Amino acid sequence: MTSRTGPAAVLAGLGTALPPRVVGNDELAARLDTSDEWIRGRTGIARRHWIEPGMSTIGLATEAGARALKSAELGEVGAVVLATTTPDRPCPASAPEVASRLGLPKVPAMDVGAVCAGFVYGLAIGAGLIGAGIVPDVLVIGADTFSTIVDPTDRATAVIFGDGAGAVVLRAGSPSDAGALGPFDLGSDGELSDLITMPPGGSFTMQGKLAFRHAVERMAGSALAVLGAAGWTPDDVDQFVGHQANRRILVSLAERLGVPLDRVVSNIDRVGNTAAASIPLALADAAAGGRLVGGHRVLLTSFGGGLAWGSTVLRWPEIRPA
Ligand code: ACO
Repeated sequence: MTSRTGPAAVLAGLGTALPPRVVGNDELAARLDTSDEWIRGRTGIARRHWIEPGMSTIGLATEAGARALKSAELGEVGAVVLATTTPDRPCPASAPEVASRLGLPKVPAMDVGAVCAGFVYGLAIGAGLIGAGIVPDVLVIGADTFSTIVDPTDRATAVIFGDGAGAVVLRAGSPSDAGALGPFDLGSDGELSDLITMPPGGSFTMQGKLAFRHAVERMAGSALAVLGAAGWTPDDVDQFVGHQANRRILVSLAERLGVPLDRVVSNIDRVGNTAAASIPLALADAAAGGRLVGGHRVLLTSFGGGLAWGSTVLRWPEIRPA
């Protein structure tokens, strides 16, 4: 748990990018032993976007980043943080290339690896850079292309993941500003690293049932911790934006927190599990659909391989996502 010291990090812009190729459940059912009915019923997913040859995580991250800068009406920022588990290569990090492509060739830029919790970790790092007075503003991007690492013949994982990117601009401001982030709750449990893993040379694997249970438990625990630190109760929250891993996880999470489903944001039906991009894509979807409006109290909570989890809160600012 964190408490604020320097300036607050204030959400000032939001942008997203999805590859044009849409993959429906029927396309997967045509080559895997699965069905539209099973995928919808067990996960809530109807379709997802996948990259095509020539596209990459860096490309999606750059597109989302450019849109977030436009949304914030900023030409430049002081740092770039890219949360991803699917960088274009193991070395060097992808963030410096994203920064260069955005016309920010000299800013500090780093990748963050916290799997599906990566975006909230990225927000915390961005808030830390701003709070410590190191930079006045930060572009935080979550971008993943899990279609490139799942085994296309494994029905248990191939149907779940989608590709995409989402980005926000954080600027220095006051804790009372709409959009001010925090407090944060972050955690990890490396004893369970085998639950969601990709061994060297192998494909991505997940122990689905156990991951499901931990997703609900860890997100509920983290959400309650951050709400307590913020002095809010679940009743105070207008919109819960959880990691979109499985619609049933979000339903269980809502039950645990005692909140009605109409306050739980879900776009998983249209994008699947987009890993580090999941939260910003859900935010943009909710804002575009009018579910998220200026002044709303919002809780972000995420969970992924590591295990790693993280949550934060904010009052939604008057921004125009791009
Ligand atoms: N189509 C049809 N049947 C399937 C499919 C499929 N696509 N996938 C699995 N099945 C079968 C299994 O083989 C199994 O059959 P069996 O009973 O004959 O052995 C049966 O369905 C039940 O399998 P389960 O794995 O128990 O299915 P479950 O209902 O748990 O759903 C799922 C699987 C969707 C993966 C779910 O467990 C889940 O969402 N888990 C959590 C994922 C998560 O939160 N991950 C963390 C974040 S992601 C990250 O960090 C990258």
